[in-house]
Amino acid sequence: MRILLLCHSFNSLTQRLFVELAAAGHTLSVEYDINDRITEEAVALFGPDLVLAPFLKRAIPETVWQRLPCLIVHPGIPGDRGPSALDWAILQGEADWGVTVLQATATMDAGPIWATAAFTLRTTSKSSLYRREVTEATVQAVTEALAYFADHQAGRWQPTIQAAWPGVRGTTRPVLRSADAPIDWAHDDTVTVLRKIHSGDGTPGRLDSLYDEPVRLYNARLYPAIGTPGALLGHAADGLVRATTDGAVWIGHAKIGHGPSAGIKRPLTQHLPAVLDLPALDTTPVDPIHYTEHGAVGVIYFEVYNGALDTKTCLRLREAWLVACQRPTRVLVLAGGAEFFCNGLDLNAIEAAASPADASWANINAMDDLCLAILQTTDRQTVAALQGNAGAGGVFLALTCDAVWARAGVVLNPHYKNMGNLYGSEYWTWTLPQRMADRSLLEHRRPIGSAEAVRLGLIDAELASENFMSTVLQRAQAMANSEAFGASCAPKALLDEAALAACRAAELTAMQRNFYGFDASYHVARARFVHKTPQAWTPRHLAIHR
Ligand code: COA
Repeated sequence: MRILLLCHSFNSLTQRLFVELAAAGHTLSVEYDINDRITEEAVALFGPDLVLAPFLKRAIPETVWQRLPCLIVHPGIPGDRGPSALDWAILQGEADWGVTVLQATATMDAGPIWATAAFTLRTTSKSSLYRREVTEATVQAVTEALAYFADHQAGRWQPTIQAAWPGVRGTTRPVLRSADAPIDWAHDDTVTVLRKIHSGDGTPGRLDSLYDEPVRLYNARLYPAIGTPGALLGHAADGLVRATTDGAVWIGHAKIGHGPSAGIKRPLTQHLPAVLDLPALDTTPVDPIHYTEHGAVGVIYFEVYNGALDTKTCLRLREAWLVACQRPTRVLVLAGGAEFFCNGLDLNAIEAAASPADASWANINAMDDLCLAILQTTDRQTVAALQGNAGAGGVFLALTCDAVWARAGVVLNPHYKNMGNLYGSEYWTWTLPQRMADRSLLEHRRPIGSAEAVRLGLIDAELASENFMSTVLQRAQAMANSEAFGASCAPKALLDEAALAACRAAELTAMQRNFYGFDASYHVARARFVHKTPQAWTPRHLAIHR
């Protein structure tokens, strides 16, 4: 089929569908929902069999949905309507939720149902649910809906009107505003505070007040402490620990409305340094970096918010790697986080810095030092385990390991150019040619799925989504216990340090031009990315009809 993906932005859910539908043999093109005329033009140019809208904020124009089937992915159960579906579900403590594929009609979210898929609502943030449960349920529901398409066109199958859907229980709900979920620190228990913050994370953030300032809060977790409800108990790992009526929560990130980093989501203590005057508490429960050991296998996890690796975390991760290399293990696994493996440099930290060029330079050098420590690990096997998606430098960080294994369904963006023609470093000119001769991956700027990445030779294995980390451990243990272990490490001793250094120097020369040169494209693209400037046009590599 020819499918036009109409979306507000090419977000992770849209990228996953793009990857899955392309693999299923469909011809795809993408158009951002900029205005009705552009949508009409895209339909006329591409001539799709259907329009699929995985992530839309506005209604599809009548001129389009009257002409051809338009399927909308709604992150809610049958009957649910409104723009804050997941937000309400989290706030109201729903146990089960779902994704519904609806046909567009005159009223938003009111069209007949093509398919639906259910999931259990984990206690976590909205964006985490969106990236995992919602994404998997969407793939399932869209696949089912497309299976009905031919019969629908032939008049043999009709979607079900919402009122007739068996057991329909969803309702119409408005936008969830902060006024609907104010945190009452004197009376709210931990579960309630977490629901209120989780339901607004990553956008728009739950509005609250700290030191008499309005702040938006993100990245909250339960923290093992108690105190007078509402008391600011201390700081840990760049976040604030605050008491609830029955325990405490840790709040890692915030946005404030004024000052040099106004509107930028940053670690809470960066916005409110006064928090650092509070007692320093145990960081163990919230440290993004942690190490576990399982016989001959060591695993380093780094659960950084949004997969962004800032300079300090790169340096700490390198230290953790070097310490782990002192342990008597034979395989060392770099496991990233459950949400993302890594998305490269921390662009928010860079944007908020007094000199974004200097901050970019420091960040890429720290990242390269980390990559070098991994590449120089020649006495044992190294494995990157991708539980979540990776983008830009995060993909190339993974490639510094001897083996790269990804969870099925992971989406990779192995390119830098979307960020204002950034050249990229992380020793990609060393690692990529060892895996594939063709550099077009960096040029075409498309997301690729784990299966395609294996086929291209970019990564080594795609492992089943269920129990991914257990499978990784089993494979790593088999690797460590293999009779061929010694032989597999032998070639690593011949590492050509001079050639490695030359690659880094050439990459950094190009990066220096990106950061300090006459062409400011990288700085412009980064500012637009961090401040989420609305899209003005669809890039040509996605809008193939243009
Ligand atoms: N630095 C800071 N924040 C980042 C980030 C980075 N490198 N990469 C992603 N994020 C943030 C996004 O701003 C977004 O924030 P939000 O929670 O406030 O909405 C969140 O992570 C999720 O990102 P999103 O773009 O929605 O994820 P996605 O899965 O839809 O897209 C990418 C993934 C990798 C394509 C996209 O995030 C991207 O292009 N990131 C930048 C990669 C890059 O150029 N890194 C620098 C060079 S190494």
